[in-house]
Amino acid sequence: MSESPLIQVRNLSKTFVRGEAEIHVLQGMSLDIARGEFVALMGASGSGKTTLLNLLGGLDGSDGGQIIVDGQVISELDGDQLSDWRAHTVGFIFQLYNLLPVLRAVENVELPLALFGLGKRERRQRALAALGLVGLNDRSDHYPGELSGGQEQRVAIARALVTDPTFLLADEPTGDLDPKSAGEILDLLGRLHRELGKTILMVTHSHEAAARADRIIHLEAGRVAQGVS
Ligand SMILES: Nc1ncnc2c1ncn2[C@@H]1O[C@H](COP(=O)(O)OP(=O)(O)O)[C@@H](O)[C@H]1O
Ligand SMILES: [Mg+2]
Repeated sequence: MSESPLIQVRNLSKTFVRGEAEIHVLQGMSLDIARGEFVALMGASGSGKTTLLNLLGGLDGSDGGQIIVDGQVISELDGDQLSDWRAHTVGFIFQLYNLLPVLRAVENVELPLALFGLGKRERRQRALAALGLVGLNDRSDHYPGELSGGQEQRVAIARALVTDPTFLLADEPTGDLDPKSAGEILDLLGRLHRELGKTILMVTHSHEAAARADRIIHLEAGRVAQGVS
């Protein structure tokens, strides 16, 4: 079944209610992402990019429509199944890294393996291997506060990779970095895509960053904008 898209979004809708106001963030969104594809997601602030990523990663539920990953309809999973699915399927990369400051780099990278039933030694080996993939073997004992922003983001990418997830979701991963560090993070994501065949969906405001992707999806008024790609 490798011919069918890895991710199928069908007529997805999401509305937030705040007091009297209803915000219709996603309004019948449909899109496909192929296995191994690197896709950039662009759109004005507030256009629903983060909301879409949260739904794709099973962090939040939709009001209508479907997300199908590898033939699995995500909304049909119950709470425990969804946690398990998320742990095995999705790697998250955030703008502000979200590392735990009291843990060393290698300990941060080990965290997502908690649900995998591995022994301590194997967890450590896998975390060190992931740090190797992002070129940070020599920083494994450092605390986040002892690393540059670019290095923190590489630790966060190692944390996203350590479970060997089916796809990576990156929400403005270079949004808080200087141009040089941002370029290095984009080089790294490109390498994970080309050399390891990772499927990546990356939100960005930068046209330069988006140009690294195979394809650009533009969000507009809660839908995929037509006529641009
Ligand atoms: N938990 C929430 N409660 C209420 N409104 C929300 C919530 N999350 C997002 N929104 C609103 O949904 C819209 C889309 O937000 P978001 O997906 O974060 O946009 P983007 O990432 O494209 O900037 C915004 O108007 C935002 O204020
Ligand atoms: Mg956002």
